[in-house]
Amino acid sequence: MIGRLNHVAIAVRDIAAASQLYRDTLGAEVSAAVPQEEHGVTTVFVTLPNTKIEFLEPLGENSPIAKFLERNPDGGIHHICYEVDDIIAARDQLKAKGARVLGSGEPKTGAHGKPVLFLHPKDFTGTLVELEQA
Ligand code: CO
Repeated sequence: MIGRLNHVAIAVRDIAAASQLYRDTLGAEVSAAVPQEEHGVTTVFVTLPNTKIEFLEPLGENSPIAKFLERNPDGGIHHICYEVDDIIAARDQLKAKGARVLGSGEPKTGAHGKPVLFLHPKDFTGTLVELEQA
């Protein structure tokens, strides 16, 4: 069902510092920061030859990554995103196998403007999994 690794997301306190580190120290291609009000985060994408890294910095009062950064003050890997061909078919197949889909269970529009869903970390080896329709 899952296809390519679309991105690995890293939560950070300072997205400008993270961007500079990846651009200047690691020599990677780093996008501009984009505030995503509806998701409560600011995002930056680092484009690598085979996948992407997504930096997430809290935005606003009730950011969904605020608690994660309380537990991980230095930042850390927040989720991994796999591509699927058909997100509704993938969701229904996973639910039938007992996996928990977070939120309403209906896909939301993700940072790339494509439908995404998140799967409960306790069902997937302690890792928050995002599915994105390719
Ligand atoms: Co993501």
